[in-house]
Amino acid sequence: MIETESLLPDHAGLARAAEILRAAGLVAFPTETVYGLGGDARSDLAVARIFEAKARPRFNPLIVHVPDLAAAEEFALFDAQARAVAAAFWPGPLTLVLPLRAGSGLSPYVTAELDTVAIRLPAHPVAQALLRAFGGPLAAPSANPSGRISPTRAQHVRDGLSGRIAAVLDGGACAVGVESTILGLAGAPALLRAGGVTREDLEALLGRLPIGGNAQSPTAPGQMASHYAPNAAVRLNAAPDPATVFIGFGAGAADLNLSPRGDLVEAAANLFHLLREADVLAQNGQSIAIAPIPERGLGLAINDRLRRAAAPRG
Ligand code: TXA
Ligand code: MG
Repeated sequence: MIETESLLPDHAGLARAAEILRAAGLVAFPTETVYGLGGDARSDLAVARIFEAKARPRFNPLIVHVPDLAAAEEFALFDAQARAVAAAFWPGPLTLVLPLRAGSGLSPYVTAELDTVAIRLPAHPVAQALLRAFGGPLAAPSANPSGRISPTRAQHVRDGLSGRIAAVLDGGACAVGVESTILGLAGAPALLRAGGVTREDLEALLGRLPIGGNAQSPTAPGQMASHYAPNAAVRLNAAPDPATVFIGFGAGAADLNLSPRGDLVEAAANLFHLLREADVLAQNGQSIAIAPIPERGLGLAINDRLRRAAAPRG
């Protein structure tokens, strides 16, 4: 056990976080999607510590976070199409999988020795400030124990990882609330994970996008069947039922409500926090029942996470 420091995103807190990262320590930090568990992406030791802290299966590669396009181009090869996507959506909740640049200096554990790299330029001012204070690329999966619900507040990170990581940088609640969309651009464009940038917005630029990745060959932990799992059992597309903890969407009686006005953006921002709250409310083997969520816009990412939360446990 180590004592996990709580840091504020002021000058002293950012300096301390950068110092920890330079010593191959781990700092959880806010992004606009979820909190990330950051470590130096060039350090085998730091990356090994990420897998260890999360108890994460080692075959899953990590996303490399950078402050700007120039830094991204140090690690990945961009063609004209990749530059157009980056210009349209970065900084923001979109990760690009691109060919890895030779001699990138990234730890092979980050890429799982693939010849591609997942790269993201977050918009959150605290993530940006940390990347600049540290001055290098940060490997960062979501800051939760593997298979559990992703954190959207500093307290969620402390609940899951206290004693296992050096520090948490507190930047308040995450505005988007679901992880980044992952777009594969190393071959023909493919949507590898639904997330904070909608399929509709990507398709307006790129045309029809096939959905890649499946539970049999998990390139992504988010692609494994059981993930984002509360302790209680989860039932989807449910009607209100007094025997369950009911999470609603839109008008109507509910124990908790993702968005009383039926707004998918608000629902995404509330999703992981309300799953945690429902888990606290569920007593004596009660299950969690969730109202249907429309399959459009951020609803794709919400339904993807809910299906994994409801999947049979491995
Ligand atoms: O919003 C997010 O993306 C958050 C914040 C912290 O940035 N991060 C996040 O990381 O969700 P993680 O580790 O939970 O998800 C990373 C995903 C995994 O599903 C992994 O398989 C995929 O990225 N990935 C990483 N490198 C890849 C590659 N070369 N090819 C295909 N998928 C890759
Ligand atoms: Mg995750």
